[in-house]
Amino acid sequence: MSGERPPFLAPDGVLPDLVPKRALATGAAIPVVGLGTFGSDSVPHEAVAEAVLEAARVGYRHFDCASVYGNESHVGESLRAILRSGVRREDLWVTSKLWNDKHGEKDVVPSCEKSLRALQVDTLDLYLVHWPFPNFHPPGCDVTSRSPDARPYVHESYMKTWRQMERLVERGLVRHIGTSNMTIPKLDLLLRDAAIRPVANEMELHPHFQQPELVRYVVERGIVPIGYSPIGSPGRPERDRTPEDTVDIEDPVIVAIAERLGVHPAVVCLKWGLQRGQVVIPFSVKRANYLANLRAAVAPPLTDADMQAIAGIDRGGRLIKGQVFLWRDGQSWRDLWDLDGRIAQ
Ligand SMILES: NC(=O)c1ccc[n+]([C@@H]2O[C@H](COP(=O)([O-])OP(=O)(O)OC[C@H]3O[C@@H](n4cnc5c(N)ncnc54)[C@H](OP(=O)(O)O)[C@@H]3O)[C@@H](O)[C@H]2O)c1
Repeated sequence: MSGERPPFLAPDGVLPDLVPKRALATGAAIPVVGLGTFGSDSVPHEAVAEAVLEAARVGYRHFDCASVYGNESHVGESLRAILRSGVRREDLWVTSKLWNDKHGEKDVVPSCEKSLRALQVDTLDLYLVHWPFPNFHPPGCDVTSRSPDARPYVHESYMKTWRQMERLVERGLVRHIGTSNMTIPKLDLLLRDAAIRPVANEMELHPHFQQPELVRYVVERGIVPIGYSPIGSPGRPERDRTPEDTVDIEDPVIVAIAERLGVHPAVVCLKWGLQRGQVVIPFSVKRANYLANLRAAVAPPLTDADMQAIAGIDRGGRLIKGQVFLWRDGQSWRDLWDLDGRIAQ
């Protein structure tokens, strides 16, 4: 650290150099807190873009984007302003994701190029295959919506997509590639066949949905777990809500720790995720909230007793179930997640 205050930092911001980074298999380092940019179909793109810009002013250097969020051109305007303000490109971490209707061999490179143009950067630090299914559904659609050409996971098809992801690395358009919403049986096949391995798997992770087996699996293979919906996605769209869902930030264990520390329960969820070794990508468009979320990374850790207590409240409570990606009538969303260790067909 130079000791100089970096350009563009708000007086109450967190020094970006103080925010820990996690090493990827390539040696590159990803800041452990990123700002999510999915407005859950309800937050206007302008508000998300404004949050990106101001989040950089409070010290964020990592932004989790995706073409399907529909706001990459808005976010891109903010990224350009951040870079013009003197923040160096190599100090920013920008992730984007390939949407399900762009898995075709001819679609991957153009889709990435479109995101690059929208985000106004020459390269992405990380590009993920958003879901392992090529099943399109229109943005904002109802949970009962099914695409007529929906298919199960077909490994040969996924590998064709993955080969194009590898081409993106070879062509220098992206620095790293990774997966999202994968399961152990699918990752087994990908790791067997990939020429360029995924450096990260983005997956739903919060205290009520800890996925210990999948986290252990990826960590043992040098793949960084990036936890999405780390607060339990209290603002998620209606289509992602079911009666059995539970609320992490109302859990008595989380609330008691939050009261003791004088923070919002959301911050306790993030601190737990960080201490467990995850990268977290909370969404917020409220300055006080996203600043508190970044401060979670530099504040004193939770106690061992806190961590044990939170380990005990896992409910296996998946919130983002993916119903719209099902391919047959009469299926359950559980078929998307290979719960019996086999890839459902
Ligand atoms: N790969 C995938 O398939 C996938 C799926 C889902 C999400 N994601 C990514 O993960 C990101 C985060 O997930 P998410 O948006 O579902 O859920 P989340 O980050 O768990 O929750 C976001 C919600 O929490 C509130 N919040 C944030 N910080 C808070 C604080 N300190 N105090 C009180 N409330 C707070 C926000 O409201 P306010 O704005 O009012 O603060 C917002 O409603 C997304 O934006 C997206 O980038 C990826």
